[in-house]
Amino acid sequence: MKITVSAPSGLEGVVKRELYKLTGLDSKAVDGRLSIEGDIKTVALLNLNMRTASRVYITVGSFKAVTFDELFDEISKLSFEQYLDKTSKITVYSDIFESKLNSIQAVSSVCKKAICKRLESVYGCSLKESGFNHKVEISIRRDYVTVNINTSGEPLHKRGYRTSVGDAPIKENVASCLLDLSVWNKSKTLVDLFCGSGTILIEAGMILKNIPSGLNRDFDFLHFEKFDVSFYEQMIKDAKDNVVKPNCIRLYGYDIEESQIKLARAHAKKAGVADVVYFECKDMREYSSNEEYGVIVTNPPYGERISDRNEIVRLYRDFGKVYKNLKNWSVFAITPVSDFERLFGKKADKKRKIYNGRLECTYYSMLGAKPPKKI
Ligand SMILES: C[S@@+](CC[C@H](N)C(=O)[O-])C[C@H]1O[C@@H](n2cnc3c(N)ncnc32)[C@H](O)[C@@H]1O
Repeated sequence: MKITVSAPSGLEGVVKRELYKLTGLDSKAVDGRLSIEGDIKTVALLNLNMRTASRVYITVGSFKAVTFDELFDEISKLSFEQYLDKTSKITVYSDIFESKLNSIQAVSSVCKKAICKRLESVYGCSLKESGFNHKVEISIRRDYVTVNINTSGEPLHKRGYRTSVGDAPIKENVASCLLDLSVWNKSKTLVDLFCGSGTILIEAGMILKNIPSGLNRDFDFLHFEKFDVSFYEQMIKDAKDNVVKPNCIRLYGYDIEESQIKLARAHAKKAGVADVVYFECKDMREYSSNEEYGVIVTNPPYGERISDRNEIVRLYRDFGKVYKNLKNWSVFAITPVSDFERLFGKKADKKRKIYNGRLECTYYSMLGAKPPKKI
């Protein structure tokens, strides 16, 4: 079957790479989504392990439609009975871009009727919808309709370790993408000087310990009556057996707010990485390190109000001064502040547009010297 993975905006390339690493399959990217062929085990593997993706779907079909009659007829031809049983509750969500059919409500309603009609004719009874609530997503882009069933349920960034949200936290899957786009790897020291609730370091800790991103949560695919998912128990057991415990701490998080550090510690504990991440309440201005090489990946405050601008100017200048004393270090910072390089005092080696939620940001990469190769 066709499996489609959605990616955070601007990060499709990172998701494509991870998809390849997990399955060995090259995926096709269309409108921020990547597709491969697979089976229910692939669906399970991706939901459990994908750190960078937003959701995993089963694609039921796609076709062109410009009238509601066409939409109804084409939807009725799709084999929903392969995935939905006669007790399934069905919720339809629609997303439309530059298309003749342009009412979200009407599209959702027509599609729901067509799906129910199809299932009723196959099962020979009316649907009670007393079972699990399956979410069908209809995407219409320039009159081209794609029908997906959500197998993740809640988006994959909801790993289950966040007990409450901190001050402007970054989504967990976006944090993982930032790490992937940095030069950090398991053997390098990683620091977040504005760690907030700790997301970037917790994601790094999970990578370091080999903890799958979805180990502590439920997924919709586990509730498909049509699939035997008894293999999943073994998949989880194998994943737990593969968790490793590195013997020294190389992940450090600092924040000026004690409340944020408390939150970060609680989240790290829940994620199972408290033993590999060190958090401390500290003003970034006081940071220094004896380590010759290191990587900073961070999401500094950006000042939502115009009145915050002076504070941000001072903070980014001081951040640049702290960096000057970290001679060979690399810095990766995501911020919507457009003059970050000028304030920080260094030109970025690479800039990339990334959305943090709905906020357009730039991810600045400033590369330090490479450590000498070990002989
Ligand atoms: C955008 S938030 C970081 C959110 C974080 N990525 C997360 O996922 O929760 C910026 C953080 O910088 C902290 N901060 C502001 N000024 C600071 C300073 N001078 N030194 C250290 N941290 C500071 C704030 O308390 C806030 O938690």
